[in-house]
Amino acid sequence: MNTGNFILYGASGHGSVILDTLETGGHDVEYFIDDNPNLTIFENVAVISRIGFDNLVKDKARSLIISIGNNKIRKAISTTLSDYDFGQAIHGKAVVSRKVSVGQGTVIMAGAIINANVTIGRHAIVNTGASIDHDCVIADYVHISPGATLCGNVVIEEGVHVGAGATIIPGVRIGAWATIGAGAVVRKDVPNGAMAVGNPVVIKNAGNIK
Ligand SMILES: CC(C)(COP(=O)(O)OP(=O)(O)OC[C@H]1O[C@@H](n2cnc3c(N)ncnc32)[C@H](O)[C@@H]1OP(=O)(O)O)[C@@H](O)C(=O)NCCC(=O)NCCS
Repeated sequence: MNTGNFILYGASGHGSVILDTLETGGHDVEYFIDDNPNLTIFENVAVISRIGFDNLVKDKARSLIISIGNNKIRKAISTTLSDYDFGQAIHGKAVVSRKVSVGQGTVIMAGAIINANVTIGRHAIVNTGASIDHDCVIADYVHISPGATLCGNVVIEEGVHVGAGATIIPGVRIGAWATIGAGAVVRKDVPNGAMAVGNPVVIKNAGNIK
């Protein structure tokens, strides 16, 4: 089954996972875009440069996904492509409630579970096996890493990185561009730009948005 062509921006490990997610779902990836001038093929898919891409006539039949794990870089690139259509990659073995809203450019990996009344913004990543319970609100450019657990009613503001296996208890708000360390257990709100690690969580910086 071929249900549409995609272009991935970023030939990297994260790009490999998105490629696999799309191909498993019967989609084709036509090519990668990457800034490495020496890269012409990746995972048996052609790679073109950003300049090469900009010189192409934009084909709205294809959907673009920025396949770069770094939230700031993903945001920076997306703002240079505001006239383009962004697609979504949602693995067939993710469990996503019918009552979930998912923004364009967002990817949801295998084994993720997203329960009712969750809202996820644009260019977000819900990585392998992450669990997001009811009524969470996840903003644009967020990355929820593999195995992380968001209990119900958690709010994740723009650009936050939640590390692998972290747990965030119900009703907590994580401020914009904060980083939650792998394995952290977060019981209280985290300020914008802060780095929170450990169990119980310790704030390692006061929270300057970098
Ligand atoms: C939180 C994190 C981003 C910090 O990385 P960093 O900025 O390089 O920070 P450092 O390694 O210098 O550590 C700073 C301090 O935090 C502590 N720390 C870092 N990560 C920690 C963690 N996950 N749990 C507990 N403490 C942690 C360090 O021991 C150090 O403590 P100290 O100040 O008392 O010496 C990183 O350790 C992390 O957990 N990243 C998550 C990665 C991940 O899940 N990736 C998924 C990709 S799919």
